[in-house]
Amino acid sequence: MCGIVGVVGNENATDILLQGLEKLEYRGYDSAGIFVTKAGEEPALVKSVGRIADLRDKVGESLAGNRGIGHTRWATHGKPLEENAHPHQSETGRLTLVHNGVIENYAELKEEHLAGHHFKGQTDTEVVVHLIGKFVEEDGLDTLAAFRQALGLIKGSYAFALIDQEEPETIYVAKNKSPLLIGLGQGYNMVCSDAMAMIRETNQYMEIHDQELVVVTKDSVSVQDYAGNVLERESYTAELDLSDIGKGTYPYYMLKEIDEQPSVMRKLISTYADDRGAMTVDPAIVKAVQEADRLYIIAAGTSYHAGFASKQFLEELTDTPVELGIASEWGYGMPLLSQKPLFIFLTQSGETADSRQVLVKVNEMGLPSLTITNVPGSTLSREASHTMLLHAGPEISVASTKAYTAQIATMAFLAKAVGDANGNSKAKDFDLVRELSLVAQSIEATLSDKDMIADKVEKLLLTARNAFYIGRGSNYYVAMEASLKLKEISYIQCEGFAAGELKHGTISLIEDGTPVIALISNNSVLASHARGNVAEVVARGAHVLTIVEEGADKAGDDIITRAVHPYLSSISMVIPTQLIAYYASLQRGLDVDKPRNLAKSVTVE
Ligand code: F6R
Repeated sequence: MCGIVGVVGNENATDILLQGLEKLEYRGYDSAGIFVTKAGEEPALVKSVGRIADLRDKVGESLAGNRGIGHTRWATHGKPLEENAHPHQSETGRLTLVHNGVIENYAELKEEHLAGHHFKGQTDTEVVVHLIGKFVEEDGLDTLAAFRQALGLIKGSYAFALIDQEEPETIYVAKNKSPLLIGLGQGYNMVCSDAMAMIRETNQYMEIHDQELVVVTKDSVSVQDYAGNVLERESYTAELDLSDIGKGTYPYYMLKEIDEQPSVMRKLISTYADDRGAMTVDPAIVKAVQEADRLYIIAAGTSYHAGFASKQFLEELTDTPVELGIASEWGYGMPLLSQKPLFIFLTQSGETADSRQVLVKVNEMGLPSLTITNVPGSTLSREASHTMLLHAGPEISVASTKAYTAQIATMAFLAKAVGDANGNSKAKDFDLVRELSLVAQSIEATLSDKDMIADKVEKLLLTARNAFYIGRGSNYYVAMEASLKLKEISYIQCEGFAAGELKHGTISLIEDGTPVIALISNNSVLASHARGNVAEVVARGAHVLTIVEEGADKAGDDIITRAVHPYLSSISMVIPTQLIAYYASLQRGLDVDKPRNLAKSVTVE
């Protein structure tokens, strides 16, 4: 979603901003802009709709400055037009602002305070910069006081970076609910919504908490609360490697990330088990699960599907019931809870506003929580009682692949650790280290069949407008994830269905040539019922592709995955479906990594 970069005190400000925005492209955006200044020279404001490459072309070679702010916008208020792209400016143009988040009371602020002001676009952000500008330009406050006064009136989520043209050495920032970091350079400082944006410049960062205001100059960072009290804040070293965020020789990040899954599985084994195969999950987390009478997994999208894929083994190994909640629903309608709940937030980014909304409520209720995330130091990680990391490395493609499989594997380590601690007999018999190693090998075997899969995808989906994934048992959850992946990057309308449920209505959509992809695992009862459901759609003209686990396979099946432990088969069964989505998107000539309308990190509710 929207991204912020800013720099003060570096002669290469333009380049730092543009490179930073390029690093944020993966988060999803529809327009972008930068504002660059240098004392004694005319400031420059350049915006464009479309890619950062278009902005770069517009900026040209000659734009020099030593301070600036930049932004990638994912439209919420107002269409993706140049006049709505950030940065925005106050009535006189003295103040310039970029903003991530949503201002809930912008219409009221406009009506109450900004009569007679002229707005170029429709955004909530433009209202904010006019408001701060009014306090400076009309009421005579200094910028810091004006910013503080505006922050006292604003309701909603925000990360702001503000420049006053008359103070050439400073960037003001503030945050509430939206992520923002300070990056520390040698003789200059930076601001960014994601450490990735500035990792070329520094690995030293400083966190900002909600309702804090920061005054950043080239050689100082002053963190304050809204009352003006100065707060101590240590910096930390980001464990990101520049090479992790490159594409290497891959055409798309998604393919690279699909290929990385065997090594992610092995990394998780070395992180969460010792040489003898004993679990090394944080004992405080194990205890938190042991003390709970019910586990509530809160997540969105792909992470929600990973929650379902983990439900059965979590229940069987921890002897604790598991309930799933869609984050955007639970934030505003919490059901009746058990006596001793533990909330588990499954979130690759750790920034999803919908999930965070639930965590805020959980914290208000004083309930314990665990965030399972790929991003150390992310908002949900900081605000939960405990964190377990996914160790999948940065995932840049909008369509999640390796983070999804890492979520299931990490949950398996949690379940096994709790089961072992409880003396659960199924946990004792479940040699997770060995089984996950077999999963890594199964993934490798599927990945070696890419060409065959690409060929089948072309025949099945090249001109398809809609499709179905069907499965039973754990394959129903794989079908949900597989269909999400296909629709999000190929734009083929696709539903994931419990195979037995089709005949209760949806089978009326099956006609001659409708693509149906059936997932069949090595469980004799479910496999034979699933085969029956396949026969039902074939009889109605469906064009069927089968993905079958070894042992359940029959002559004529299309893709065979190597058999793995049933608890982990969601991981091996999802791999062909990731490749199906990838090739369907590629063969349609689409931008695999940056599907339309979507953002990697969804920081608005
Ligand atoms: C789809 C995808 C999304 C995310 C969802 C939640 O490929 O990645 O469905 O899973 O937006 O994001 P996180 O996991 O960051 O909370």
